[in-house]
Amino acid sequence: MAFGWIDDQAELRRRAGLVRTLRPRPADSPLLDLASNDYLGLAHHPEVTEGAAEAARTWGGGATGSRLVTGTTELHGELERELADFCGFEAALVFSSGYAANLAAVTALGPHGSLIVSDAGNHASLIDGCRLARGTTQVVAHAEPDAVRKALHTHDGPAVAVSDTVFSVDGDAAPLAGLAEACREYGAGLVVDDAHGLGVLGDGGRGAPYAAGLAGADDVVVTVTLSKSLGSQGGAVLGPARVIDHLVNAARTFIFDTGLAPAATGAALAALRLLRREPERAARARAVAGELHARLTAEGHQAVRPDAAVVSVRAPSPEEAVRWAADCRGAGLAVGCFRPPSVPDGISRLRLTARADLTDGQIERAVRVIGETRP
Ligand SMILES: Cc1ncc(COP(=O)(O)O)c(C=O)c1O
Repeated sequence: MAFGWIDDQAELRRRAGLVRTLRPRPADSPLLDLASNDYLGLAHHPEVTEGAAEAARTWGGGATGSRLVTGTTELHGELERELADFCGFEAALVFSSGYAANLAAVTALGPHGSLIVSDAGNHASLIDGCRLARGTTQVVAHAEPDAVRKALHTHDGPAVAVSDTVFSVDGDAAPLAGLAEACREYGAGLVVDDAHGLGVLGDGGRGAPYAAGLAGADDVVVTVTLSKSLGSQGGAVLGPARVIDHLVNAARTFIFDTGLAPAATGAALAALRLLRREPERAARARAVAGELHARLTAEGHQAVRPDAAVVSVRAPSPEEAVRWAADCRGAGLAVGCFRPPSVPDGISRLRLTARADLTDGQIERAVRVIGETRP
């Protein structure tokens, strides 16, 4: 029977406790949210929603075409200039998602005959970029510049190292300065995904590469998402103008994809301007993460010290992680749940996201619920 094999896979997933289901969220959810990636609490900010509404009224519900045909509005240009300026890079290119931005950066900068050195903890979108690229990928030990060095040493020809700046699973930061140094020794480029760093790390939220002194470097390319701290949707690649021009001409997820919707573009632009005006939001998100970590570890939970706004708490098994998250939800707290295959090391976790707008009372309540529902 056509697709019969799907049932076998579903049964295997069920037995392993790995079934995933969708839960549509009501507009007025009563849950305390420690699951979303709205790190700065901007998704519902009136300036951000008005930025979306105004852009939709002016430019329409959709971009109407691919970026090279009709899908580039003046608003896209404004967002690209302001994003590049904020993060300290020469140029930026906006994509319909961070996923598409990562596929673009890795495939366009990892051509046939090149070596792509990829951290073992990288996000799925970077991994898929490596899979699609014509170059050869070598996966190296997590957050180890020497492993990158060793891989680059074996190769003659163009090469890039690819890494998240803040890893999605444990919220730990990559050793960016060390990675850049390793790449420079071999004339390789460095591509880093700052999805979890933008808006949280660096002066006023300018991101992890800015914090590491790599902003504007001619051998560093940064990808970001507009869907986390900027409370919108979409992605971007930032870097030297010649790299951005190359992406316009060579990146298939740019060329063959409809431009980012005007509403998302307008929302991201409004959020970016807000962040410039209120830089303290970035520091507050980091402080909330630190506070969550300190209180959870004081209560005996195994939580990884957060380098940005992601706080990861170990769970005994995939089934218990799912039950723990469900019990939190039952007690009014939304938390994320990571389990295989999303976690390369097979360890299941609760994943909490610190938001700049969480109050001390909400932090206290979250820690209490997590403790009371512990498996
Ligand atoms: C590290 C990382 N990179 C890329 C993405 C993809 O971004 P987007 O959701 O905008 O496609 C995500 C999450 O969504 C992420 O966590």
